[in-house]
Amino acid sequence: MKISRPRGTNDFLPAETVKWQHLENILKEVSCLYGFYEIRTPIFEHTELFQRGVGETTDIVEKEMYTFSDRKKRSITLRPEGTASVVRAYLENKLYASGGPVKFYYTGPMFRYDRPQAGRYRQFHQYGVEFFGVAEPAADAEIIILAEDILERLGIDDLEVSLNSVGCPACRPKYYEKLKAYFADREDQLCDLCRSRLSRNPLRVFDCKNSSCQAVAAGAPKVADNLCAECEGHFSELKAILDVCGVKYSVDDFLVRGLDYYTKTAFEILYNDGGTMKAVCGGGRYDNLVEQCGGKPVPGIGFALGMERILQVLEEKNLIAAEIPGADIYAAYVGRESMGTVFGLMKRLRKCGYAVETDYSARSLGSQLKNAARMKVPYALIVGDDEIREGVVEVKDMTAGTQEKVAVAEIENYFKGRMLND
Ligand code: HAM
Repeated sequence: MKISRPRGTNDFLPAETVKWQHLENILKEVSCLYGFYEIRTPIFEHTELFQRGVGETTDIVEKEMYTFSDRKKRSITLRPEGTASVVRAYLENKLYASGGPVKFYYTGPMFRYDRPQAGRYRQFHQYGVEFFGVAEPAADAEIIILAEDILERLGIDDLEVSLNSVGCPACRPKYYEKLKAYFADREDQLCDLCRSRLSRNPLRVFDCKNSSCQAVAAGAPKVADNLCAECEGHFSELKAILDVCGVKYSVDDFLVRGLDYYTKTAFEILYNDGGTMKAVCGGGRYDNLVEQCGGKPVPGIGFALGMERILQVLEEKNLIAAEIPGADIYAAYVGRESMGTVFGLMKRLRKCGYAVETDYSARSLGSQLKNAARMKVPYALIVGDDEIREGVVEVKDMTAGTQEKVAVAEIENYFKGRMLND
């Protein structure tokens, strides 16, 4: 029986991985401009980290985690997102000790057992940033500006930031009570899951996909009308900075995000995927998460971009042209006896940075040159007994069709400065 890849996962072949690399290079470059440096955390963590970090009432923890026991019967989970892991690493490596702001970025695979469809996978990749130690709205503005900058550099300039404030522990309890009362009166219209979560986290009804729950949620009290003065001030200040910077955003009263750790700012950047709005980016502030994970209180904020989704948008808009670079030189030869000389020449040319291809089975010169033409290499070397004896190789310009003899000792100099594939 053939073994196929697990549902919701992808093989990325070289024609696609060049596009991933192009995207990753831009992400790395822009991150450094904003002072975010790379952190790499394990792909699996103790399950408890996500239970505590992401939250017990989230879809992620309730039904989407890849959790298993290791050989010592410890519960291990493949990371469903990056923030909880980065917070754990921040604490474990005592990065709070500097007292100043700490900024990271990361890229890598995340795992969620969701129903796969276009743009939604069980193994997907995120680029994320996490910014610790600044409670002021300037940090919120900085990362939203960073997200917009990334999209702009990629050529995507028509996506808008959807923004909201989800309150803090000071204003949330009163708001939750109001919400619970509102939903309790309409409990019969809610799905089983929302009903079961109601007492623990009424916000979850807002991101339930069930149409009846959505209809009930549309009339619910808005968090924006129930913010404390501190949260309201924070939100106004953030909006003022974004306005001055010309960041396009719209306030979405019902944006609450699907993770429990958010406080104050929450935002998403959406795109239209064949009629359904999907998020390419989601993030927000999490001022209590570090404490919840066992540290002293340190404010934090971050976001993550879905890399498959970004690449999908880039493809649709024809904004990504990265191609496999291909070889510069094809080293053809006559007879197995010439192979040693050819491998020596190839090593020298590769040392100079040229991509060199050859034939590994000493086929006829005709079929080797046909292969070179198919690969669209600009130059072919032809090495035969006579050439080896004379200490020369034939160099064929594959575009002009011309051919000339070049001394073996001069081969690097001959190619220096010539236009090759890029
Ligand atoms: P999230 O909204 O769960 O946030 O995920 C961020 C982005 O990852 C989404 O906007 C989407 O583009 C992508 N994404 C999520 N699930 C899938 C999936 N199944 N298939 C493909 N793409 C997906 C977080 O993960 C937070 N950790 C973001 C954050 C960082 N908040 C603060 N810091």
